[in-house]
Amino acid sequence: MQPTLATPPRPYADAPTLPSGQEAVDVRALVRGEWIELEIGPGRGGFLFERARSAPAAGLVGFEVRRKWASVVDARLAERGLGARARVFAEDARLALARLTPDASVRRVFVHFPDPWWKKRHRKRTVVQAGFVREIVRLLQPGGELFVQTDVASRADAYEELLGSEKLLRAKGDDAGSARLSDNPYGAQSPRERRAQADGLPIYRLRYERY
Ligand SMILES: C[S@@+](CC[C@H](N)C(=O)[O-])C[C@H]1O[C@@H](n2cnc3c(N)ncnc32)[C@H](O)[C@@H]1O
Repeated sequence: MQPTLATPPRPYADAPTLPSGQEAVDVRALVRGEWIELEIGPGRGGFLFERARSAPAAGLVGFEVRRKWASVVDARLAERGLGARARVFAEDARLALARLTPDASVRRVFVHFPDPWWKKRHRKRTVVQAGFVREIVRLLQPGGELFVQTDVASRADAYEELLGSEKLLRAKGDDAGSARLSDNPYGAQSPRERRAQADGLPIYRLRYERY
């Protein structure tokens, strides 16, 4: 008998994803919480665990494109008894945000150290770009916040230019009219943030408020 060539299983094929078979997804049905916060690209998830402690009333939703990390972090949140109010879905955040409803339903969006792409051919992977910002503006409630941080000065300048041109966002940094924040005020840090701090790298933080 000829041996059959079995297709190798796709790693983390059972990673949690947004409900299929429906385009629009009510973000309030994904987690329990008095309000909703989103994290884009949580990676190994450190921020979500710490944020769950520093904001115990918040419902937290992460979108992580790497299935491995979405699976591992979502499972760890559940193991720690946080599964009802903190989830990570294996999704490209740029597509996932466009599916979320209703408008003005999210209190905060966190984007920690995005866009680790340097090669020109990888530019299409850029997360923080105009369409992504439009979806965030649509989802944020009035007074809701967008927090972005990076350790790359030129990236911070580019984000500031892009976000500063969005009419429905107001800079909310340390000084009036500026989006720059010297510290992270959220009582929770991302893994990359901790590493940058330990390595003595500068961290550029921007915060905006939805009108
Ligand atoms: C440089 S790492 C930073 C990880 C984490 N935010 C931190 O600060 O430690 C960027 C993260 O964003 C994720 N990512 C990149 N593009 C994404 C996308 N389109 N949607 C969701 N996650 C994405 C990567 O897989 C990676 O986990």
